[in-house]
Amino acid sequence: MSLLRGLAVATWRTRGVMGANLSSRASIMKPRLLSSRDLTRLISRSVSESAYERSQKRSPITWTSLLVLVVGGGASVVYVKHLKEVKKKQEEEKKVKSHGKAALGGPFSLIDHNGVRREHSDFFGKWILIYFGFTFCPDVCPEELEKLTEAIKILDDTPGLPELQPLFITVDPKRDTPELIKTYLKEFHPRMLGLTGSEEEIHTATKAYRVYYSVGPTDNPNDYLVDHTIIMYLVDPNGEFAEYYGQNRTAKEISHSIANFMIRFKRN
Ligand code: NI
Repeated sequence: MSLLRGLAVATWRTRGVMGANLSSRASIMKPRLLSSRDLTRLISRSVSESAYERSQKRSPITWTSLLVLVVGGGASVVYVKHLKEVKKKQEEEKKVKSHGKAALGGPFSLIDHNGVRREHSDFFGKWILIYFGFTFCPDVCPEELEKLTEAIKILDDTPGLPELQPLFITVDPKRDTPELIKTYLKEFHPRMLGLTGSEEEIHTATKAYRVYYSVGPTDNPNDYLVDHTIIMYLVDPNGEFAEYYGQNRTAKEISHSIANFMIRFKRN
């Protein structure tokens, strides 16, 4: 009996004794250990009987070299299985991430600064960058809108990128009329479109982006501040939320990030 046959019989016997136990456990254990069936397959694939005999004439296979082959082959099988597990895990994480992102954003129906009703779906096919604020904001909103304008100018100067539509949605619909917003936005990017609506419509839009806003204490009903979330939201041409930018991000960082999203989107 040849060496290989001996080994095959030995593994077959092992399988006979432990087979049922191994196969029932195999599905539970991750990463799966080599079963005797794997071992048999591995040996028959790596060294066929004739190949073994041919090679024996030139350089006889020793127990040691066979052991190296089996252990090495086994390790690589386990390693490949490990890689598959890692890949599966990464794909699952990706699914969770994109699912989490999809939860942000959503339909809105508002009046633009020219008095025209605008639905979220009107902007499908375009990249939009939404900022929530109010025209009476003393410093933060003007600073953020200036930064947004600068970021869009960088994108406009970058060849090959699609046009981005900046949107300003007021969190102060009581005072921010379409006319007032139109005048206010003249200081910023010329493509910027202002949106307002009823308190309920504004509430729906802010809720979709989880924007917090609250009217501060006041003695005069026409003189008050609105505390609000300071974030820009990037929405892709499918109307899906892509990214948000907080107050700490610079115009350059924002424009680079948006450009990356646009390029990646084009490739897909
Ligand atoms: Ni503000």
